[in-house]
Amino acid sequence: MSDPRPIGLFDSGVGGLTVLEAVARRMPFEDLLYLGDTARLPYGTKSPETVRRYARRAIGFLLSQGVKAVVVACNTASALALDVIEEISAVPVVGVVAPGAEAAVAAARASDLDGVLGPIAVLATEATVASDAYGRAIRALDPGRDVIHTACPLFVPLAEEGWTENEVARSAAARYLAEVPRAGARVVVLGCTHYPLLTRTIAGALPKGTILVNSAETTARAVEAALPPGSRRGEISHGTTRLLVTDASERLRRVAGRFLGRPAADLTLVDLP
Ligand code: DGL
Repeated sequence: MSDPRPIGLFDSGVGGLTVLEAVARRMPFEDLLYLGDTARLPYGTKSPETVRRYARRAIGFLLSQGVKAVVVACNTASALALDVIEEISAVPVVGVVAPGAEAAVAAARASDLDGVLGPIAVLATEATVASDAYGRAIRALDPGRDVIHTACPLFVPLAEEGWTENEVARSAAARYLAEVPRAGARVVVLGCTHYPLLTRTIAGALPKGTILVNSAETTARAVEAALPPGSRRGEISHGTTRLLVTDASERLRRVAGRFLGRPAADLTLVDLP
């Protein structure tokens, strides 16, 4: 038995393309359908009610395209709206918070010294930080573990501008991350789609040996686990990728190319009903 329907991926914008790439590497025979709600980006500065309303509408559209699973690549939507999304979805839903928390706990356990639980730092948007979703997920796996949160809102426009390794990025990182070593955190979760683009700058602002957790790979593994062999497309030919966006400016194409690491040739504009 096989299931030819595409896997749906959703993000507020094009940052989630890093998750799409990870899923494509892990499941190369699957067709992927990506929806970026670029007309309403950013989600990370908005209220929980608005994020939930936007996510419900976007996921409703993705489901109407006949996807066999929904991957919520957006950390903010995963943190604030996963319950709403699960409520309206008849197919499996995979968010990025649980896989990210699992990877962080595994890294923290491996780096604890003399059985002393070192805190985990979570870097994310203001909305994700306010939700404490990562904190709850980490404590559920590892109850004694402290979690500190730092909102780094400027990292999103910096990543989109391609200013990931210049003095502006370095000075923003120095200010945002000063608390992390003071708190003794040696494991840091990149809890936003955009932050992996600033990996070198973030690592440079932290003590040597700090582990940065990027949830794209662990999320791809969770997607694979959510789709048992009978629900795969079958190893017929390499899968195709379709990229849908709710706003497609020239700037957005440039930004999408930065996340993909190659030109984002075909972005299709859609209007959410
Ligand atoms: N995709 C969002 C996230 O991962 C970042 C961009 C936004 O604020 O919408 O949290």
